[in-house]
Amino acid sequence: MENKFDLAILGGGPAGYVAAERAGDRGLKVVLFEKSDIGGICLNEGCIPTKTLLYSAKLYHNALNAGRYGVSAEGITFDFQKMMARKNKVVKKLVLGVAAKMKQNNVLVVKGEAYIENRTANGIRIRVDETEFLAVNLLICTGSETFVPKIPGLEASGDIILTSREALTLSEVPDSLIIIGGGVIGIEFASLFNSLGSKVMVIEMLDEILPGMDRELTTMAREIFSKKGIEFNLSSQITRVNGNEAIFEKDGKSFSVKADKILVSVGRVPVTIGFGLENIGVELIRGGIKVNDRMRTNIPNVFAAGDVTGFSMLAHTASREGEVVVNNLTGGNDRMRYNAVPGVVYSNPEISGTGLTEEAAREKKIDYRVAKLPMTFAGRFIAENEGETGLCKVIVGARNQEVLGVHILGNPSSELIYGACMAIEAEMTLSELREIIFPHPTVSEILRETFFAF
Ligand code: NAI
Repeated sequence: MENKFDLAILGGGPAGYVAAERAGDRGLKVVLFEKSDIGGICLNEGCIPTKTLLYSAKLYHNALNAGRYGVSAEGITFDFQKMMARKNKVVKKLVLGVAAKMKQNNVLVVKGEAYIENRTANGIRIRVDETEFLAVNLLICTGSETFVPKIPGLEASGDIILTSREALTLSEVPDSLIIIGGGVIGIEFASLFNSLGSKVMVIEMLDEILPGMDRELTTMAREIFSKKGIEFNLSSQITRVNGNEAIFEKDGKSFSVKADKILVSVGRVPVTIGFGLENIGVELIRGGIKVNDRMRTNIPNVFAAGDVTGFSMLAHTASREGEVVVNNLTGGNDRMRYNAVPGVVYSNPEISGTGLTEEAAREKKIDYRVAKLPMTFAGRFIAENEGETGLCKVIVGARNQEVLGVHILGNPSSELIYGACMAIEAEMTLSELREIIFPHPTVSEILRETFFAF
């Protein structure tokens, strides 16, 4: 049968397209189903477009603050539509790049909605419209979608309400913006629109923003954002939305705030329905597909990777999960480890972390030691971040001094954090790390300084 494949992949996001590329490269016959544009949420309406816009916003912010560096500029403005057009151009270029990689690696990309029919001794049968495909192995990477909470009045408020998708297609910068949810999406958009001049208010249910990240850094970051003009309401529960008005409760009192737009960013949920998962009996857990550390589901030859597992929900984890599947299918012995996943908030300033936070170390009752230094201990940071501050924190095991976690607040921490991931993965100790030579002068030296600060 011509339509028989070694591996069928449902969903062309960072889990799916990376798995397809690797599998094709190793000679597997691969088909990748994607109903929309290849690249998934990350490339089309997530990571890449937001980072492109954040870069424009950062340039504008830097131009406005150029005086601090002895540079004078007048009449600084921005053209939001041009920023959006550039964002679309960047996305298009990358989508074409991924499509080219698929071709290079002999992956058949089928554009359409795939539906899993059944699983027999011959393989797993998948249909797209009238065409049937048979696959020995199936990798499900259908991703996630925005979770929209049941807040009274939210649905009726029409186009005042935005999710990250609509926020990326606005034609003008809103004068004011309420953001419900101070997680990663909320904070990145807060930073973006604050830099572009919107009056931004974040309403967060918990008592601090960015849950899951090291709390000392998130508190410090919130203070920096507050100084830039972002208003935060923590421990606040939204009770109702009425057009452009949001009503929330805080400390037992009710407050009403108004803005041009209201962005809802209270999490994402795995996409597990509408493509026949039930026909093969794949088990779910907490709304996502249940997998083991090899990304195997409860059904033989059926795997899942990325947001659909509801676990890590990060593009880079998704890609690695897809690779684990392919490595095991092609004779390797690989498993997922989640102890050194980097987490980055691409706000200005950036917040990056990997491994254990202090809170997690305490909760796990790990005997740890911590050292921290202001970012201004790195000469290059001072040179390039006039008037800015930040923090680098390193957590090691008290006994063996192996690195357990690294957390950095300050630019460009997103570009440094991988070094810490490598140290954790390689189980490096402080004394080994102190022997590594870092380039001077770089902001990365803050890590080396902190290794000596114990
Ligand atoms: P999130 O889970 O990161 O944050 C949601 C926030 O909303 C939490 O702080 C939560 O306490 C709060 N919240 C929940 N219900 C609320 C309510 N009714 N009222 C007020 N606050 C409420 O979810 P987010 O930011 O929507 O992001 C979704 C996913 O996308 C995450 O898994 C995230 O990791 C991923 N993502 C990652 C990025 C990155 O790595 N840079 C960028 C954007 C998204």
